[in-house]
Amino acid sequence: MTNSIRSLYESRCRNGAPYYWQPQEITKSPFAFNGEFGIKKSLERILASSEYLEIDVAQYTGETWKKLQGEVSPICKELLHSNIADEGVHSQQISKALKTYEVDANTIAEAKSLSEQWRSLPDSAIEKATALEIGVFLAASLPIMLRCGGHSLTWIATQISRDEQRHAATNRYITNKLYSNNFSEQLQELVKESVTWIVGDLDIKQWKVNKDWFLQQSQQLMDTGIAPKLSQFTSASRYSPPFEDENSRFDY
Ligand SMILES: [Fe+2]
Ligand SMILES: [Fe+2]
Repeated sequence: MTNSIRSLYESRCRNGAPYYWQPQEITKSPFAFNGEFGIKKSLERILASSEYLEIDVAQYTGETWKKLQGEVSPICKELLHSNIADEGVHSQQISKALKTYEVDANTIAEAKSLSEQWRSLPDSAIEKATALEIGVFLAASLPIMLRCGGHSLTWIATQISRDEQRHAATNRYITNKLYSNNFSEQLQELVKESVTWIVGDLDIKQWKVNKDWFLQQSQQLMDTGIAPKLSQFTSASRYSPPFEDENSRFDY
């Protein structure tokens, strides 16, 4: 496993040091189906919740990094440290998106309350980070941005997804080392509540996706680490980048 941790770390480096993509100003591009079928509402909730949860995950990961002594290899700790810096990039990019796409005050308030629910959960910081990244970001927020968000949000989701897959793998590894791999019922319940809030109004009959579908994908991704239906869902939306960034594969 240390080998795969090392290769994860090396995969994010250029010239021997961690590489971070740069947040970009974005232009407003239309959502899929012009935002109908609950798409607009979901995307607004995704942006609002990401504004809080990206910072929360950085904090959870930072707490874990500080506490780790000799339980993991130095390279794993280094990887975790670079993952924390990624969250700062994500947070800056989400803030730029929120300047372009307006989100109403009520949605922002609900997102803040969701973040507070996560903060008050007694589970360990690394378990909270892992569950958010796998059960909420990779299972719902990012796939919806990728497939439904239009050109700009798809670009953002492509960048963030690549990082989050690395974070999820790192955090799974650390969680396994420090704890059993069983998330508490309370934590799993909050994953479901979070996904339900994000996709509660989403019902795209043409694509056969709705709230229940996303809840199933989230459960499956948490339980097994793979969700083939999510891969199919997002594979219809490979992004052609206007920047010099390479377009790496997006897999679950
Ligand atoms: Fe993130
Ligand atoms: Fe992350």
